[in-house]
Amino acid sequence: MIEASIPGAAAARQLCVVVPTFNERDNVPKLFAKLEAALAGISWEVIFVDDNSPDGTSDVARSLAQSDARVRCIRRIGRRGLSGACIEGILASSAPFVAVMDADLQHDETQLPKMLALLQAKQAELVVGSRYVSGGDTGNFNSTRLGGSVFATTIAKKLLHIDVADPMSGFFMIRRDRFEQLAPALSVQGFKILLDIVASAHGKLRVVEVPYSFGERLHGESKLDSRVVLDFLGLVLAKLTRDLVSLRFVLFAVVGSLGLLVHLVSLYTALALSVPFAHAQALAALVAMTGNFLLNNRLTYRDQRLKGVALIRGLLLFYLVCSVGLLANVGVAFSVYNQEPIWWLAGVAGALMGVVWNYGVSSLFVWRAK
Ligand code: GDD
Ligand code: MN
Repeated sequence: MIEASIPGAAAARQLCVVVPTFNERDNVPKLFAKLEAALAGISWEVIFVDDNSPDGTSDVARSLAQSDARVRCIRRIGRRGLSGACIEGILASSAPFVAVMDADLQHDETQLPKMLALLQAKQAELVVGSRYVSGGDTGNFNSTRLGGSVFATTIAKKLLHIDVADPMSGFFMIRRDRFEQLAPALSVQGFKILLDIVASAHGKLRVVEVPYSFGERLHGESKLDSRVVLDFLGLVLAKLTRDLVSLRFVLFAVVGSLGLLVHLVSLYTALALSVPFAHAQALAALVAMTGNFLLNNRLTYRDQRLKGVALIRGLLLFYLVCSVGLLANVGVAFSVYNQEPIWWLAGVAGALMGVVWNYGVSSLFVWRAK
């Protein structure tokens, strides 16, 4: 065996299975037992990447690791996100082939040897566990979830010219060297890492799909929610612009547009309550900025969410940033209008300047990465 010839053996591992976890305490030992059975005869390891689950998932993973050197656990603090967790797990391994699969036993671990063989035989660089090729299925998806999944898949394929039947799958295996090349282009936010990988590769990745049937979740609950949908739209937009705009920027801009709406509604209401215009406008701006700040804190920067005193401090800073952003907005709009008196062009240029400024400076000072 190759294992014996390399000190510490870990370097010889062919396959690393990366498993992102959030509140999956009861699933971890079950998944491990299933992997052990499915991967007999293969040199493998598993890395659980846990975002500090309150249910103590990382303790369970670590106690497994105490008794089996094939198990490792990365515990991330102050960060949340499926994609980011997967990226970190993959980059933590030195195995030439890396799989990503869910902890909740919904993915079919018995497909792993077949996926590995395809990569080893160089028939593919990426193997996708696919629900949408013949032989695969979505299991017990209810009609809403199935509809949503099919719709999102169609959008992604059409808009991003993706030639994979199931780009939304969270179950895949990839050559680590190819992943390392693509890693800098990937978004750490969001849920859809496979879509990101395929889109970022711009058709330069040889993909093979193997069918599998999406299983039933046994313990715990799904983390798929409305924010995941927003993330998905942001990712599609980001990839459409070839990463000119990041997912975070798209979210920031979407929140900003909502802010305009909030502003107008507040202004209308204040005027209806016969508040003088200047006061009404100032009030509306304050309401819109506060709303934007809270939304950004929940969505755009939810992986760096501010709480308590930091929240108040952040809000005050955000007011300041936005005020300067408004000056920049008006300044740019004026100078464009002076050269070319087209009102909407000047307006758009000003608004763009404002949002770019607000985004850049907020990222630097308000939600500073720890
Ligand atoms: N570390 C970490 N951080 N793990 C997370 C997070 C997070 O913020 N959110 C979810 N996970 C883990 C879960 O613990 C689980 O192991 C896996 O990611 C998938 O999460 P689920 O909540 O079970 O998602 P799902 O079953 O609704 O969605 C699955 O199916 C989709 C296809 O329909 C996932 O496989 C998706 O990736 C896939 O797109
Ligand atoms: Mn699941």
